[in-house]
Amino acid sequence: FGKPVLRGLKVVVSAGPTYEDIDPVRFIGNRSSGRMGFAVAEAAAQAGAEVTLVAGPVSLATPQGVGRRVDVRSAAQMRDAVVDATAGADIYIAAAAVGDYRPAQVADHKLKKHDGAALELSLAENPDILATLAAQTVRPFLVGFAAETHDVERYARDKLKRKGLDMIAANQVGGGLGFEAADNALTLYGPEGAIELPRASKTELAHQLVARIAERYQAVRG
Ligand code: C5P
Repeated sequence: FGKPVLRGLKVVVSAGPTYEDIDPVRFIGNRSSGRMGFAVAEAAAQAGAEVTLVAGPVSLATPQGVGRRVDVRSAAQMRDAVVDATAGADIYIAAAAVGDYRPAQVADHKLKKHDGAALELSLAENPDILATLAAQTVRPFLVGFAAETHDVERYARDKLKRKGLDMIAANQVGGGLGFEAADNALTLYGPEGAIELPRASKTELAHQLVARIAERYQAVRG
């Protein structure tokens, strides 16, 4: 811990869920607590990076050392904030659980119940933030997360390739790990193979992850 392995580097971290509004009082969200991403932002700051944290709707205090925090709600807002923050950044770590879909229309009045009738919501696909960054000619070193309930390795390797990432941190959700849990366990995949980071607190894992990202970053961009 505490080695300035990211000194002089600009790092952007996204964290938390996104909320996609249905009407003024309802939304579609997910169970991400934001804790993994906040721990990563803190670890990156402790490693000497200049950190911007783009946070979805979470109730977490900004970690010490994080220079800038941008709070957003929806995936579209998160995309705009991340694109803005990553201009000139060296590393982007996408720990946010971005909603895949949003209601195609946001009602401006509270939707009313019609007894007995089913309600159909039409959903539109959200922008993929990582893929947006991967498509840029000048792009930061890109680290994604893959939280899966099954077939973790297959989906993680697929996302690494499909989204054009430099590294992906995969974890199994459930069994006291992952979403809403204090602990996590990660497997890192990159072009160079797999690295296991066994079960530990999110704080401990965040430090290990940051150390691995720094190593890999130095190898390809340093
Ligand atoms: O949701 P999915 O499992 O595909 O997420 C994998 C990675 O892609 C995560 O790092 C997540 O933050 C990112 N992502 C994104 N934009 C989306 C969906 C996911 O950047 N619309």
